[in-house]
Amino acid sequence: MRLPSSTLVALSLVSHAHSKNSTLLNPILPGFHPDPSCISVPEPPYNHTFFCASSSFSLFPGIPLHASKDLVNWRLISNALARPEQLPALALTNKSTSGIWAPTLRHHAGVFYILTTLVFDDQPQTNLSRWDNFLLSTTDPFNSSSWSQPIHFNFTGYDTSPFWNPQDNTTYVTGSHPWELQPGITLAPLNLTTGAIGPLTNIWNGTGGLAPEGPHLYFHPPHYYLMIAEGGTGVNHMETIARAPHPNGPYTPNPSNPILTQANTTSYFQTVGHADLFQDARGQWWGCALSTRSGPEYAVYPMGRETVLAPVTWETGGWPVWSNVSGHVSSWPLPAQNVITEGEGPLITAAELLDFAPGTRLPPQLVHWRLPIADNYVVSPPNHAHTLQLTASVLNLTGLDGNYAGPAGQTFVGRRQVDTFFTYSVDLDFSDLREEGDEAGVSLFLTQNHHFDLGVVLLPAPNTNLSTQYPSSSPPAPPLTPHLRLRGISYLPVPPALTIPLSTFFNQTLPHPSKTLTLQIKASNTTHYALSAGPPGHEHLLQTVGWTPAAAVSFGFTGTLCGVFATTNGRVVNGSAPSALRAWVGGWRYEGQGQVRS
Ligand SMILES: *[C@@H]1O[C@H](CO)[C@@H](O)[C@H](O)[C@H]1NC(C)=O
Ligand SMILES: *[C@@H]1O[C@H](CO)[C@@H](O)[C@H](O)[C@H]1NC(C)=O
Ligand SMILES: *[C@@H]1O[C@H](CO)[C@@H](O)[C@H](O)[C@H]1NC(C)=O
Ligand SMILES: *[C@@H]1O[C@H](CO)[C@@H](O)[C@H](O)[C@H]1NC(C)=O
Ligand SMILES: *[C@@H]1O[C@H](CO)[C@@H](O)[C@H](O)[C@H]1NC(C)=O
Ligand SMILES: *[C@@H]1O[C@H](CO)[C@@H](O)[C@H](O)[C@H]1NC(C)=O
Ligand SMILES: *[C@@H]1O[C@H](CO)[C@@H](O)[C@H](O)[C@H]1NC(C)=O
Ligand SMILES: *[C@@H]1O[C@H](CO)[C@@H](O)[C@H](O)[C@H]1NC(C)=O
Ligand SMILES: *[C@@H]1O[C@H](CO)[C@@H](O)[C@H](O)[C@H]1NC(C)=O
Ligand SMILES: *[C@@H]1O[C@H](CO)[C@@H](O)[C@H](O)[C@H]1NC(C)=O
Ligand SMILES: *[C@@H]1O[C@H](CO)[C@@H](O)[C@H](O)[C@H]1NC(C)=O
Ligand SMILES: *[C@@H]1O[C@H](CO)[C@@H](O)[C@H](O)[C@H]1NC(C)=O
Repeated sequence: MRLPSSTLVALSLVSHAHSKNSTLLNPILPGFHPDPSCISVPEPPYNHTFFCASSSFSLFPGIPLHASKDLVNWRLISNALARPEQLPALALTNKSTSGIWAPTLRHHAGVFYILTTLVFDDQPQTNLSRWDNFLLSTTDPFNSSSWSQPIHFNFTGYDTSPFWNPQDNTTYVTGSHPWELQPGITLAPLNLTTGAIGPLTNIWNGTGGLAPEGPHLYFHPPHYYLMIAEGGTGVNHMETIARAPHPNGPYTPNPSNPILTQANTTSYFQTVGHADLFQDARGQWWGCALSTRSGPEYAVYPMGRETVLAPVTWETGGWPVWSNVSGHVSSWPLPAQNVITEGEGPLITAAELLDFAPGTRLPPQLVHWRLPIADNYVVSPPNHAHTLQLTASVLNLTGLDGNYAGPAGQTFVGRRQVDTFFTYSVDLDFSDLREEGDEAGVSLFLTQNHHFDLGVVLLPAPNTNLSTQYPSSSPPAPPLTPHLRLRGISYLPVPPALTIPLSTFFNQTLPHPSKTLTLQIKASNTTHYALSAGPPGHEHLLQTVGWTPAAAVSFGFTGTLCGVFATTNGRVVNGSAPSALRAWVGGWRYEGQGQVRS
């Protein structure tokens, strides 16, 4: 980050000499929480509660909302996109870079608004159908079901963000114009009730970096400030700013741009950008942004783009000055510790133990890849209390072509990896596998083209030399027997698939599990995951099946999930999945065991 020496002096003058600095730990929203937009809501009943929304791409439920009173403890309070009928087209996204991009969260006159874009990233940039912009609203952000149906509006582009001009009460939308057209930031009046949009004005093109995007407008009297991201969301990412006497311009860029970047640094926190600004109860400014814990090598970052926070100085008539983003930031005093209790989900780094009790539903931190087929997920079914019953999809986690699955979907439910080191395990009842290729198991999933699966799959027993026993007739088909299979797919080379009959794998821990198995994914060091299996209830008897490289699940826009899947690997009966193939998952555990912050 470059700061002119004059601003450095100003910064040190205002650094609250009377109160002790705090140490802020980043990321504040670890794991797959990119493109953050955060606000502080001073009004009762929120009393300076902080709220953040982040991108969810093809996940459902989508657009998670986290809240905090102290900027340290963040709770998942709702998902703004929690009903399939809000966005049926989310079932049809093609490519892992499609889906929900960059929600902007704002609170105005008692209402919470989210503006965002459903992007069909397989379409050419110039195709108007590529960009489905819409807004959601609620007066109760702690309740997923309170979020409205979308109001769609016609904006050719993405990263839309609302702005209420307090000087004339006009409501605007700013957004990014696609880069294959004329890249730049556009502004238009927008009616938030009807979605009617006024004439588009190209207000700023940024400082010349790739893909000017993620615009947010602020009125910090006497100026209007337009802060944007440039450089693309990789290691050249940066945040720049310009200001104007009116939202329409003309905009004067900050001579000190970029105001935030880790480009060309050796920081562990790279790709910093796509930022937002807000003020706490003391009037101190803060900025959130996305960042990737990758170091400049930018090769191992399975959790993808996470949300970070930094103190910002912004004096009247001046420019916002960001502190450097790192794992341990010396910051303004943080608000007093205060753990928020409202909302539907857990604190973001809470250990998780799910026993799928009768009468419960899947908690809001569990996600599907695209819209789920609801019947494929039954909590605590008859005869299998305290399990989650999965009904297999025909498609496995790679799906049709690694990019698409179609409306029949993929049976998968997972949660975000939010710790550098963690252990995730489930007890899997695989007794319903029937035909060759039927499979259920755990997955470390980044995209359809990047995942490692440890499953139990039904395959013919190893060759028992039947042909010599039956020399004159065709041999009977070898019996099917459950095998452990660890296989993966990535754009990088992956270890060869490992397939081994359960009876062979467990030769040292007899009796080998015949019905239920514990399957575990563990990030045991920063570069590899260990995938293990063993008899349930005996963690010390788990044996490692194999190690998979974290670099092979470091790619693109999403972040890793740990979850469970069930598939017939393509086997169809009368054109669809054999309806009865099920697997039962119990004892779902996720526990963080440490963060690497530098
Ligand atoms: C906010 O403050 C009001 C008035 O002091 C109080 O009644 C209310 O319980 C507070 N709400 C929260 C969420 O702290
Ligand atoms: C997905 O998009 C690709 C272009 O990126 C296209 O070739 C393919 O046909 C699409 N698949 C489906 C099923 O629409
Ligand atoms: C534009 O996108 C729509 C919706 O995905 C698609 O049906 C149409 O074929 C696309 N048009 C072109 C010219 O690519
Ligand atoms: C959407 O806006 C574009 C201009 O930005 C215009 O060309 C197009 O006709 C509009 N579409 C509709 C359905 O109004
Ligand atoms: C803007 O709207 C508010 C609330 O409706 C009103 O009090 C205020 O006078 C309006 N300001 C202007 C400049 O119109
Ligand atoms: C939005 O449109 C509706 C319907 O045309 C109108 O009644 C309302 O006044 C508009 N709102 C604003 C802020 O212009
Ligand atoms: C953005 O770039 C285009 C193409 O160079 C130019 O026509 C337009 O005036 C620029 N917009 C602004 C606000 O400078
Ligand atoms: C990083 O360094 C490259 C090469 O010198 C330069 O082109 C680029 O502008 C720098 N990026 C930033 C944000 O300073
Ligand atoms: C206290 O925090 C502010 C804001 O990050 C920073 O500018 C200042 O240097 C810090 N002071 C110390 C003594 O670390
Ligand atoms: C026992 O299983 C391991 C693999 O888990 C295998 O390498 C070994 O050969 C097996 N031993 C016997 C006696 O089958
Ligand atoms: C992590 O563990 C794997 C498997 O044991 C090993 O190959 C790799 O070198 C280890 N990496 C580090 C950074 O220790
Ligand atoms: C997925 O299933 C297809 C058949 O639908 C199969 O060809 C492919 O090998 C499977 N692979 C993986 C890694 O899931």
